[in-house]
Order: sequence, then C-alpha cells, then structure tokens
Amino acid sequence: MRHVTGEQLARVDNPDPFASPAWRSPVCRTPEPVIWLVRLIRRAARVVLFAVRHPLAGTVAGLVAVTWLRAGRPGLAGLAGVALTALVLLRLIRPAWFARLVSGPARNRWRWWFYRRHWHAVLTIARLAPAYRGRVVVPVLGTVRASGCTDRVSVRLVSGQSPAGFAARAEGIAHGFRAYLCRIRSAAPGAVMPELVRRDALADPMPALPIPAVTDLRALPAGRREDGTPFAIRLRGTHLLIAGATGAGKGSCLWGLARAMLPAMAGGLVRICACDPKLMELAFGRALSDQYGRYAADPADIAGLLENAVGEMQARARRLAGKQRDHTPSPEHPFVAVLVDEIAFLTACQNDRKLKDRILAALATLTTQGRAAGYCVIAALQDPRKEVLSIRNLFPDKIALRLDEPAQVDMVLGDGARDRGAFCDEISADPRTGAGVAYMRLEAAPDPVRVRAAFVCDDDIGDMAAPCAAA
Ligand SMILES: Nc1ncnc2c1ncn2[C@@H]1O[C@H](COP(=O)(O)OP(=O)(O)OP(=O)(O)O)[C@@H](O)[C@H]1O
Ligand SMILES: [Mg+2]
Repeated sequence: MRHVTGEQLARVDNPDPFASPAWRSPVCRTPEPVIWLVRLIRRAARVVLFAVRHPLAGTVAGLVAVTWLRAGRPGLAGLAGVALTALVLLRLIRPAWFARLVSGPARNRWRWWFYRRHWHAVLTIARLAPAYRGRVVVPVLGTVRASGCTDRVSVRLVSGQSPAGFAARAEGIAHGFRAYLCRIRSAAPGAVMPELVRRDALADPMPALPIPAVTDLRALPAGRREDGTPFAIRLRGTHLLIAGATGAGKGSCLWGLARAMLPAMAGGLVRICACDPKLMELAFGRALSDQYGRYAADPADIAGLLENAVGEMQARARRLAGKQRDHTPSPEHPFVAVLVDEIAFLTACQNDRKLKDRILAALATLTTQGRAAGYCVIAALQDPRKEVLSIRNLFPDKIALRLDEPAQVDMVLGDGARDRGAFCDEISADPRTGAGVAYMRLEAAPDPVRVRAAFVCDDDIGDMAAPCAAA
C-alpha cells in the first residue's frame, strides 16, 4: 500500500482496517472578529461602488438620510414635494431632458425588471439554456433599452451559442415575453440583441408626406420607420427594386418617390421616364411624366424608351468622361429616374422574345452603367424569383413589402434577411394594417429595418399632376 503522510489524511471512525483512507480538507479556524471585519469591508466596498456607478441614486439616498436625521417626517414630506414639483417643471419646460433623464431610464429599468422576472423560465423552455457539467447555464441578461413600442435587450451568449440559434427560437421568445414579434440583432461577438416589438407602431396608415421644399436625392422622404424616425430612400448613385405581392403597396412607394422629387422636376434637375405596362399605376399621373420626362405603356414603346435612355446615358458618359467620376444633377445633365411598374410584364410574361431581349438588354445596361451618369432604375415587381427577373442582382437597393412565401424574403433582401427579422411573409394582407409596410436593409447595418410608406392616394397624385395637366 502507498504510504501517505500529512495532516489531510484521516481515518474517520471506521472499524474496517482495509478501508481506503478518507480525505478531509484541512480546517483553519478563523477568529470571529476577522470574519466580521472582512464582511464589513466587503459591504463598504459595495456601497462605494454603487455610489460611484449610480451617483444620482447615491445623492438621493444621502439627501433622504440627512433630511430624515435633521428634520424627521415633515422634512421628508417637504423633500418629496420639492422633488415632485421639480419633475413636473422639467417635464413642462424641457420635455426632451425629462425623457432622457427621468422617463427613459425609468422605463428601461421597469422593462429590465420584467425580463429579469421571466428570464430563466422563458429561456429554459425555449431551450436556450443548455446543461453543462450537470448545471443549467442561462445566457446573461444585460441592459434593456425600451422605446414606446420596442425593447432592445442585450444578451451575453453562453459559450458555443450563436445568433442563428437564438433566431430559430425567436417565436418562442416573443410569446414568452408577451411581445408580438422578436427579431434577433447581432451585437458584439458572443452577444445578441433581441428586439421585442410590444406594439405595432406602423399599424395605422400614414397620409402622404408634404412635398419637401428641396429634393435630396440621397434621402427622399417616403414614410416612417418603426422607431419613429423618417424612412428615406436614396436614389442618387444606386438602383432600387421594390418587391411585393399584389396589393402590397408598391404604388405608394413609387408615388412617394415621385412626390419627393417634384421640386427638382420643376427646377429641371430631375426627369422621369415612366414605364407602365399594366396601365393602372403610373398612367394616373401621366401628365407629370409627360411634362417632366416620358411615358410609355405599350411594351414596344417601353423598349424604345429604355433604348433611348441607354443612348442618352452613353452619350452623356462620353461627354463627362475624364471630367467627373460622379454625376451632379444640373439643368444640362439632369438626374433621370426610370420608373418601371410590374417589370415582370416586360420580362417573364412577355411572349415576344425579341422585344423581351431588347428590354432586358436595355435595363441591364442602365443598371450596370447608369449610376455614375445620373441614371437610376426603380423597378416594381410581384414575384422576385430569378426566372422572373434575371437581373435582380443588378439592383443594389431593395425594398421588400408583403411577400407570399418566406423563401422570397432572402431572394429580395439577401441571404439570412428573414433570420435577421425581415418577416415579409407575415405582413398583414389587410390593406389598412399591412399595405405599404416593408423591410429594407440600410447601407450601414446588416439588420433589416421595418418601415411603412406613406399612402399617396389618388387625390394626392391628382394634386401633383394638376399643374402639369393645366400647362
Ligand atoms: N402606404 C399605404 N398605406 C395604406 N394603404 C395603402 C398604402 N399603399 C397602398 N395602400 C392600399 O392598398 C391598395 C393596394 O395598393 P397598391 O395598388 O399600391 O398595391 P400594389 O402593390 O401596386 O398592387 P398590384 O401589384 O396589384 O398593383 C391601395 O388601393 C390602397 O388602398
Ligand atoms: Mg401596382
């Protein structure tokens, strides 16, 4: 038998002489005053840390304590009155400060408590709390930033978990936290940021936006984002594809853009070429395109219009070659927006093969070469499959309205867009709540944002076109 020495070896009362030795940790007897001292130091350190991290709470607690000691209950009542009056005055005089300093942090804290209460249960039942070495490991709840309609919750992942794993459980998380939608945003490595939508901020239709005084082709106002900020569309230096099932509201996007470009059209800085093969959309404000550009509805006329635009674009490119790399709209060289409604009528549904090839060739040339020369193609279509529009990838910017199938979302917005929360197939088919609602990817962020286009109704289009019709 191996000879073992040391204090740790102990043979506990065991009558069996062949029993293996029992190991016991050494016991150091700490004097009680030392234990109390350590506890006291620890508590004091925690108080100091709290005061440093929460200076406001520390000051308030100190003030309450001093008032209580000096003036008792009447003093506390007076203090509460002063604080209340100060808050009311701040709310009335500086509402932005009140929101930033008082109501915002209070709401964040309140929502944090809500998530804290349900966190373990929801994540365990959603199977996002794995077992490791016999222990359940739960992702760590971080801060919560709550706005009027959404909560952004930062979460530290358990090692080995991925945002995709969270995205697969998004529905369970949404229901668990009584939200009606949950989108998983990726934050830093090892962290995710579920965005839980408590209330649909875009449920009500929005009337057409006022015509801006000046047109900014880099940010044309078209509606509102879910977070309440303006939804602006860039046309300068890009091409735009708008995809949406029938009745999804493609018309309001097209007319919203035309509306925002109206001042520049009147100033001779923008021309529009309207291609309306369905005869039902752009024909309504035809006077506008007749006055500030061209209109075509017949496929042969559209082919002619597009080829003409290609010829002009190439002539302009030759003229500007070597002088400038980027186009700035001027009366001599205006920005040209080529609007094509229901592009599938001209491609997949076109029986005349020669005509179809001419149209596709012209569109491909405009989308590949037009950007620097100030030509922009804005196309709307119902079915985003490659068989319908083979040049889909030549459109750098895309807007996805209501779509019929989940697979179509990634076709429009790129791989992984649906996993990142672009639930276009779940947008309501009821025009009141769903028409004009869309997802789009912004340049700076990979996560799609939910937006709603303002509704440009027939009267608005009539008002826009009336001065042109009278001219
Ligand atoms: N932004 C919006 N807000 C509220 N309602 C809208 C909006 N846009 C459109 N609608 C409503 O939805 C209906 C369909 O819109 P629209 O004609 O633009 O759809 P579409 O996508 O062009 O459909 P189609 O492919 O059949 O032409 C409109 O008649 C209108 O009542
Ligand atoms: Mg339409």
